[in-house]
Amino acid sequence: MIDLKTEKNKIKNKIKNDNILKALKGEKVDRVPLWIMRQAGRYLPEYREIRKTVPDFMGLCQNPKLACEVTLQPLRRFDLDASIMFSDILVIPHAMGMDLEFIPGKGPVFHDPIKNLKDIDNLKLINSNQDLSYVMETIDLIKTGLNNSVPLIGFSGSPWTLATYMIEGSGSKQFSIVKKMVYENPELITKLLDKLSDSIIDYFMAQINAGVNLLMLFDTWGGILDLPRYKEFSLRFMDKIICKVREKVREQNIENNGDSKSDSNSDGREIPIIIFTKGGGLYLSEQESISPDGIGLDWTMDIGDARKIVDSKISLQGNIDPCVLFSDKSKISKEVDNLFEKLSGNFDSRFIFNLGHGILPQIDPDKVQHLIECVHNH
Ligand code: CP3
Repeated sequence: MIDLKTEKNKIKNKIKNDNILKALKGEKVDRVPLWIMRQAGRYLPEYREIRKTVPDFMGLCQNPKLACEVTLQPLRRFDLDASIMFSDILVIPHAMGMDLEFIPGKGPVFHDPIKNLKDIDNLKLINSNQDLSYVMETIDLIKTGLNNSVPLIGFSGSPWTLATYMIEGSGSKQFSIVKKMVYENPELITKLLDKLSDSIIDYFMAQINAGVNLLMLFDTWGGILDLPRYKEFSLRFMDKIICKVREKVREQNIENNGDSKSDSNSDGREIPIIIFTKGGGLYLSEQESISPDGIGLDWTMDIGDARKIVDSKISLQGNIDPCVLFSDKSKISKEVDNLFEKLSGNFDSRFIFNLGHGILPQIDPDKVQHLIECVHNH
C-alpha cells in the first residue's frame, strides 16, 4: 500500500538539480554536472572576509553557522551542480585525540605524530555523532540553506591519506617517515589503517544520516605508493569502507533524500561514493576492481584513455589541470573543448566535470565563472 505521508515527503525532499546523482547512476542528465574541488576557499574574497573573523582554521570548521555560510558562498556566485560541506579531512585524527594546528604558510601540523603501537592504542575510536557533532550540525544547516536545490557532498580522507599526515606530522615532499613504516613495520601501520577505517565508516554513516547525498573519499597521497603497496595500504581500506557503508545503507534501507525506504530492494548504492587517488592514473584497473560509483582523475591522465580502461558502469570525474585557470579565457574555453572531445564517442552520461585537484587561492573568480559557462554551454 502507498503510504501517502512518505510519498508527500519524497516530493517535498526531491532535489531540483540532481544531475550529479544521475551521472553517478548512469541515468540521462539535463546537462553535464559540475563542481569544483575546494570550491569554498581562499580564492573567494567573501571566504577571506569570514576567515579573518576566526583566529584559526579549526575554529571555522567547528563553527556550524560559519561553516554553513562558507559552504553556500560559491553557490551564490556560480551555477554549480553540487555543494560540498565545508570541513577538513583532518577533523578525524583531531577527534581521535591528536593535537592539530593549522599554521599559516605551513599547513596542518600534528605536534605529537604517531610513532609506535602505544600511540595507535591511545587513539580514540570515534563516535561521530558525539565527537564530530559540529560537522553534523553544519550538514543540517547546509541542507536547510540549500532548500533541495542541489545535492550535498560529504567526504573523508582515505585511511592512507590521513595516516600520512598523522605519521609525518605535516605535509611532506618525500614521505620518508610514513614509507619507512610501510617497509619496516607493515603490521603496525595496518593497525592504524584498520582503526581509521572503522572511524571513517562511522563518520560516513553519521554524515548520511545527517543528510548528505553522496560521498567522496580523498586519497590525496595514494599515488606516492608503488602498485603492490597501493593495493595493500590504500585501496584495500577504501574497499572495506565502501563495502561496509553499502551494507549499512542496505540494512537501514536509506533512500537518497535521507528518509528510510518503503520497499527493501536496496543495493546499498543509494548514496554513491567517489574515490579520488591523486597520481592514481596508472592504477585505474585496480580502482575499478573495488566498484566505486565514481573515480576522480587528476590532470595527469588522459580522460579519453581512462574512459577506455574503466568499466562503463563507473562514472569518471575530473580532470582539468587547476593551473589552466591561470590562462586567458579563450585558452580556458579550448581546454574545456579538448576535454569533451576526448570523451566523445565514449561519452555517456557517466561524467562529472571538475578540476584534477583543488582550486588554487590565486585564481580569479571571473575565470571560474567563465569555466562554468563553457561547460554548461557545451
Ligand atoms: O570547498 C571544499 O572543497 C570543502 C572544503 C575542504 C577543505 N579541505 C577546506 C580547507 C576540503 C574538501 C578539504 C580536503 C582536504 N584537506 C584534503 C583532500 C583534498 C586535497 O586537496 O587533496 C587535504 C589533503 C586536506 C588537508 C589540508 N587542509 C591541507 C594540506 C591544508 C593546508 C593547505 C591549504 O590548502 O591551505 C588544509 C587547510 C584548508 N582546508 C583550507 C581550506 C579552505 C585553507 C585554510 C585556511 O583558510 O586558512
